[in-house]
Amino acid sequence: MNESKLHDLINSMTLEEKAAQMSQVVSSFLHEGSGEEKITGPFAGMEVANEDMSGSGSVLGASGADDLRTIQRAYLERSRLGIPLLFMADVIHGYKTVFPVPLALGCTWDTEAVEKSAAIAAKEAAAAGLHVTFSPMVDLVRDPRWGRVMESTGEDPYLNGVLARAFVRGYQGDDLKNDQSKLAACVKHFAAYGAPEGGRDYNTVDMSRRQLMEYYLPAYEAALDEGAELVMTAFNTVEGIPATGNKWLMRDLLRKEMGFDGVLISDWGAVQEMIPHGVAADNREAAIKAVTAGLDIEMMTPCYIQHVKTLVEENVIQEALIDEAVLRILKLKNKLGLFENPYRGADRELEETVTLSDVHRQAARDTAAKSCVLLKNDGVLPLRKDRNIALIGPFAESTDLMGPWSIFGAEEDVVSVRTGICGKLDIEPAVEKGCDIEVISFEQLEAAVEAAKKAEVVVLALGEHSEMSGEAGSRTKIKLPDAQLQLVSELRKLGKPLVTVLFNGRPLDLHGVIDESDAVLEAWYPGTEAGHAVADLLFGDTNPSGKLTMSFPHSVGQVPVYYNSFTTGRPHNQIPSEYRFASKYLDAPNEPLFPFGFGLSYSEFTYSNVALSSEMMEESGTIRVSVDVQNTGAVAGEETVQMYVRDLVGEVVRPVKELKGFRKVHLEPGETKQVVFELDEESLKYYHSDLTYTYDAGEFVVSVGPDSRNTEGRRFTYSPAIRVRSAVGEHTTRVYGEERF
Ligand code: NOJ
Repeated sequence: MNESKLHDLINSMTLEEKAAQMSQVVSSFLHEGSGEEKITGPFAGMEVANEDMSGSGSVLGASGADDLRTIQRAYLERSRLGIPLLFMADVIHGYKTVFPVPLALGCTWDTEAVEKSAAIAAKEAAAAGLHVTFSPMVDLVRDPRWGRVMESTGEDPYLNGVLARAFVRGYQGDDLKNDQSKLAACVKHFAAYGAPEGGRDYNTVDMSRRQLMEYYLPAYEAALDEGAELVMTAFNTVEGIPATGNKWLMRDLLRKEMGFDGVLISDWGAVQEMIPHGVAADNREAAIKAVTAGLDIEMMTPCYIQHVKTLVEENVIQEALIDEAVLRILKLKNKLGLFENPYRGADRELEETVTLSDVHRQAARDTAAKSCVLLKNDGVLPLRKDRNIALIGPFAESTDLMGPWSIFGAEEDVVSVRTGICGKLDIEPAVEKGCDIEVISFEQLEAAVEAAKKAEVVVLALGEHSEMSGEAGSRTKIKLPDAQLQLVSELRKLGKPLVTVLFNGRPLDLHGVIDESDAVLEAWYPGTEAGHAVADLLFGDTNPSGKLTMSFPHSVGQVPVYYNSFTTGRPHNQIPSEYRFASKYLDAPNEPLFPFGFGLSYSEFTYSNVALSSEMMEESGTIRVSVDVQNTGAVAGEETVQMYVRDLVGEVVRPVKELKGFRKVHLEPGETKQVVFELDEESLKYYHSDLTYTYDAGEFVVSVGPDSRNTEGRRFTYSPAIRVRSAVGEHTTRVYGEERF
């Protein structure tokens, strides 16, 4: 349908029909009780939201080709103008074939793998009739108390941006209309949802505008630049105003400055939540604020459907604002080809063939193995397949390995650690639970100790159950529950080699685990193929290559702790330790236990010959940064080489390091490869005090290494031609050194 027809359509719509397009109903309310396509829940009984569902233009959470075809058909049969429904859902890290949680996907540092995971998710979900996924979540995270860190790709704006692009490409492809195996992507949660005070979900966010632009916005920008069709608002406040009613955030920043012209949808109930936030007295006022701020679709609550019509009739809201929102929604439906084929993609036979296919499972297995991070290995890994192993812990046989936001995945499809390990061994391992996630009994402990005594190696499968992280999964304690720590300490006493595999959705305080184990593998929630992937790594069929994308603190008291921080005016590492007045803790180091970028391998990688092509970067010029990386170990492996930059003297304070590039290299034993990065002035830019995005002339350090802590640096000078402003106009001159403009 061409755009002028969409305008004609809007001209023929009543205000009720427009308000319906702007309202999203949740599938549980659609089906509730009768099994008919009837609206219950918050929309129930409303004059415009009657049984023919004319009160909504999209549905959240329903899936399955047959079901969605039935709902669509019933809707269209009764609809006056025949505008199809949009089906949206949270397909976050896979549909039925569940991939690792996004934080783990981040740890792959593998854009191809991430893109592929999104493409597979889209293929399965589109065959089940879905049109839009509420993913990627690109909120930058620094606080592991917040349960939703598992949904982010981590603490770095650059890496988050690169990965956001990969997700969007994977979901959307190049042609949503003709490629029906794709979904429209909804990037979320705009903005800064990842920074709630105290790590408590839905809590206040307050930060400087510079901070917002420099750290929190780049990943949204990247996702939008890649073409993400929708944006979801955040629950939190931004500069004191809830994001969902924040006109500056949505109209000025998102629409005007960032150029976003797609559909903006609220998070679940976030329009109505302006009432408890204390900025709207009732549903009517909440609707006014959201429409004025530029919100197109209200998810779940009925403020729009109740009030949009009268607000326009009473001239409180201009109809043009409503038409603009409806046009964006219809354009999306049109882009997806729904006017030509309202049943787009929904195909039961295809759904049955593609979901959980061998190819998809294999991709999930490979990706899961890439996402696990080896944190410690005192030589005990990889395990020999002829060893007598005791597998102990609450995750030994558990299938709670998909993690939060895997609503379409089924536990019966998940490969447990036991199944994975048994597939590798000649002798069946002894298996004991040892304890529950949070409780231990004498009998459980005794049985575990007996099994361990008879074994040559103990593999412990520990962690947090998936409800301990995810939405509303905030915690003030980020250690493993005491029951599991007790299990570790009792087994340690036996003096057997102890390998701990962790399943969790946040960086943990690992004291009591890391010091008591000979090896620790952070497996996060690996998804459907969890057990296979973990076993592949434990027995060395796959070499670990994952690297952390979020720092692991020594203790919760250090939080937030992240690599790209400022030095402060009293840097602890430049002030003698006996001098008290430095920026430091008296009872803990400043640095995290494991830094951003960290991860071990069964290979050893040696870095040498860090060199720059020049010590001077000219305007629009580049510098080549090279390093030789050698695999000095005995097995082939994959290394992620990281490049960081520091601006030594900025107009505002600059972080001690900022990731500006990375490369994954495969190295056979003994092999050396030269890794080369091109550094250009784009990488030197940042937001200055007046919020202009530019660079400083002067001294920089570029460093490379295997993680953010272990890097080797070289200095260079950036010397652009500078513009000298004078009363008689502007002329350009070249100045070297500290000058800047
Ligand atoms: C609330 C969550 O914050 C959001 O991420 C999700 O997409 C919606 N619910 C819809 O389920």
